[in-house]
Amino acid sequence: SEKLPLRNKKIIVTAGGTKERIDPVRYITNDSSGKMGHALAVEAWKRGAEVVLISASQLATPDYITRVPVESAEEMLRTVTDEFDDADAVIMAAAVSDYTPATVEKQKMKKKDSLTLSFRKNPDILKSLGEKKKPDQLLIGFAAETEDLIRYAEKKLNDKNADLIIANDVGKKDRGFNVDENEVTMLSRKSEPVTISLRSKSDVSVEVIDWLVTNMN
Ligand code: C5P
Repeated sequence: SEKLPLRNKKIIVTAGGTKERIDPVRYITNDSSGKMGHALAVEAWKRGAEVVLISASQLATPDYITRVPVESAEEMLRTVTDEFDDADAVIMAAAVSDYTPATVEKQKMKKKDSLTLSFRKNPDILKSLGEKKKPDQLLIGFAAETEDLIRYAEKKLNDKNADLIIANDVGKKDRGFNVDENEVTMLSRKSEPVTISLRSKSDVSVEVIDWLVTNMN
């Protein structure tokens, strides 16, 4: 119906900053709170979608949202890949760590005078989905940048074979990571970039899910 345009659609949303283990009690992560992804999951659910929220965040979720907790990028890749086949859309709102410790210590590391850690590159989840998506699947990614926002976002749209990139400036304190509001620019293949002025993340979600409804077949 008009009110539930995403009925019978399966939408995967990822959220939060992944945690990359160093030892049993330590990890590296980033400033992502998961608020944007969680808001998107709730909005997609309101439009009738079957939502699978794959979240590395500690935020609470309403109990009507199916939530799969994950920690690392590797775990997120496995979980998203398992759910991808019959999904109609994936929204990669998670801030996936670019690197992970090359080795994970089995025991808590002892204090030393200095410490050097070595990292390897994490898999790019969005890119791997872009390589295997079917024509009727939509892929949405984020571009968090502190400079040249639109140029980098356009590059991501192409490099990752995404259908929509939501670009946000994370160099300002009042929007983006870890706050309740966001200002974004939506870039797609078919139309000119659309800027959504500063507003709550749930109001930003309305615009993003509107795009999904319009572009879903
Ligand atoms: O390349 P960059 O990290 O800037 O791209 C951001 C987009 O790609 C986000 O949608 C993010 O969820 C996704 N991403 C990913 N796997 C990575 C890094 C980013 O899926 N390893």
